[in-house]
Amino acid sequence: MRPIPTCAMLTDQEGTMSGVRKARLLDAPAIARIEVETWQTTYAGILTDKSLLNMSVARLTTSWTAELRRWPRGIVVWDGDERGLLGYGQCGRQRDPALPYKGEVFMLYVTPDAQGMGIGRQLLLALMANLVASNYPSALVWVLRANPARFFYERLGARLVMNRQIPFDGRLVDALGYGWDDLSATLDQWVRSGDRSTGP
Ligand SMILES: CC(C)(COP(=O)(O)OP(=O)(O)OC[C@H]1O[C@@H](n2cnc3c(N)ncnc32)[C@H](O)[C@@H]1OP(=O)(O)O)[C@@H](O)C(=O)NCCC(=O)NCCS
Repeated sequence: MRPIPTCAMLTDQEGTMSGVRKARLLDAPAIARIEVETWQTTYAGILTDKSLLNMSVARLTTSWTAELRRWPRGIVVWDGDERGLLGYGQCGRQRDPALPYKGEVFMLYVTPDAQGMGIGRQLLLALMANLVASNYPSALVWVLRANPARFFYERLGARLVMNRQIPFDGRLVDALGYGWDDLSATLDQWVRSGDRSTGP
């Protein structure tokens, strides 16, 4: 049985092993690159071509550098060693205090060439562990209704609990809220199942 990578266990030291680790300040350009790549493939036909083409790795590097300074603990990456970063995720305190979920998964992106290999699951489990360790026992993630990634969250134990329109790309779009009432129970379940994902 492979242990679930919790942030408490993750290393931030220089290493040669592939896998999930805490993000470092120097990861900002690679995170920005993944964000542009995944948005341009995932949201083509959902968001406008103009806004997708206007995405800038340089601008996003600046904002990710600020995020990494603000709360690095909420950001994890999947380091493919010589292949570079292949995915990242970010979590933290629920932005809407009216919702009954203490934590939130803000984003989770795996580079297109590496999708379907178990990386997203490893990153999400690390984010969940991170939330639990930060005293956020439950969490919500928002997914665009048009994005099939919602089935990934269902596979990882989330329940469809709400829908709303959210501001996205300068307009309101339909989004679905998927919740985990008990992150520890979800993590335990994956530990018991042996976290069958191994990554590429
Ligand atoms: C959604 C995403 C993060 C999933 O990561 P991934 O590495 O591709 O997924 P994994 O290989 O870890 O899949 C884990 C499980 O979920 C399933 N799954 C993954 N994506 C799925 C999808 N779109 N529909 C149904 N099942 C899916 C896998 O089949 C696998 O199931 P298994 O346990 O039976 O083997 C990734 O595909 C991605 O970055 N997509 C584009 C960006 C995006 O939409 N991000 C989410 C924004 S909210």
